[in-house]
Amino acid sequence: MRAALLLLAISLSASERLTVPLGLDQYIPAPPENPLRPDVTALGRDLFFDKRLSRDGTISCSSCHEPSRAFTDNRPFAIGIRGQKVPRRSPPIFNRAWGKSFFWDGRAETLEQQVLGPIANPKEMDLTIEELLVRLRRDPSYNSRFRELWNREPDSQTLAWALAGYLRTILAGDSPYDRFVAGDRNALTQRQQLGLRLFRSKANCHACHIGPNLTDERFHNTGTAFNNGQWTDPGRFAVTNLAADRGAFKTPSIREAAKTAPYMHNGSLATLEDVVDFYNKGGRANPFLDPEINPLNLSPEEQTALVDFLRALTGTIREGWPQ
Ligand code: HEC
Ligand code: HEC
Repeated sequence: MRAALLLLAISLSASERLTVPLGLDQYIPAPPENPLRPDVTALGRDLFFDKRLSRDGTISCSSCHEPSRAFTDNRPFAIGIRGQKVPRRSPPIFNRAWGKSFFWDGRAETLEQQVLGPIANPKEMDLTIEELLVRLRRDPSYNSRFRELWNREPDSQTLAWALAGYLRTILAGDSPYDRFVAGDRNALTQRQQLGLRLFRSKANCHACHIGPNLTDERFHNTGTAFNNGQWTDPGRFAVTNLAADRGAFKTPSIREAAKTAPYMHNGSLATLEDVVDFYNKGGRANPFLDPEINPLNLSPEEQTALVDFLRALTGTIREGWPQ
């Protein structure tokens, strides 16, 4: 009896808070109307892996954001329903609780807004939100879980709450870099330490890849969408209509970068070596190139050190609420 009570107490305290991996803020932001709760994130988790969220039952969120691939799909362009090519690459989606805007061009302002996008997108899951809600209401298990949580049938708001709640539990951290920053001087090799110094000085990476998640959450033109004098993607311009935003994309987190190839919004750089070579040459010249992007004159040894450092950003990825 006493043992049972003790177990109950332990499991209650375990479910009360979500532990955050080393290197991230301990506080996980969430909107007041959708606070982080284990029962909500568990529902969102089931939805995330459920192929019934697509018209023909072939695609789930996890088809393009695979847990075993650091929540990307390792393709240059995502492949949606009926084999359709999506015009952009699936970005890694960990640590998004700290995001300031969503999608490569930042067109969604909140995670709650973002999560409904891929369901209705005809190239991704191709199911209108209304059609999905009918499916969820007809499913006795989903229907009763939504009712227990919010005392109403599944609707677009509670659907968004559940999915966004789960996304806020996908956390990447605790890498050799984080252990080094926390004081373990042996966590990085000498060469990686040189790479880190370059990252913060001569190579200027920290101008944009900064903070716990190694992103400023802002938009920059590095030239990736400029090809032979043509724009292949408007980038941020599609949202703001400002000429200077043409070809600008949201700085992605570069945590777990060793696992998320190919790189950039269009998967145009295959390896980390290619990425460092791209920056070393000053990105790709175009009328709106970010002033922080310039030729770096890194020696081959310095380029190798920088790549080695990027590999030290691989740590652990946690998802869901630990039971
Ligand atoms: C067919 C592949 C595919 C499917 C299915 C898919 N996504 Fe994505 N996801 C993408 C692509 C591609 C982007 C970037 C699109 C853009 O920027 O225009 C993206 C962007 C995102 C982002 C934005 C990340 C950021 O930081 O900007 C989140 C979050 C996300 N997806 C979550 C989800 C969820 C939740 C689902 C299921 C409801 C889902 N995705 C289904 C391919 C997919
Ligand atoms: C002016 C801001 C800026 C600077 C400086 C910068 N980056 Fe980036 N970085 C970005 C943006 C924006 C993207 C996404 C570009 C795109 O998708 O087309 C990106 C993408 C990346 C990616 C690919 C991540 C992914 O998932 O696609 C890596 C890796 C990366 N940068 C590493 C570096 C390194 C290393 C340096 C220093 C040599 C550096 N960056 C300097 C803004 C910057």
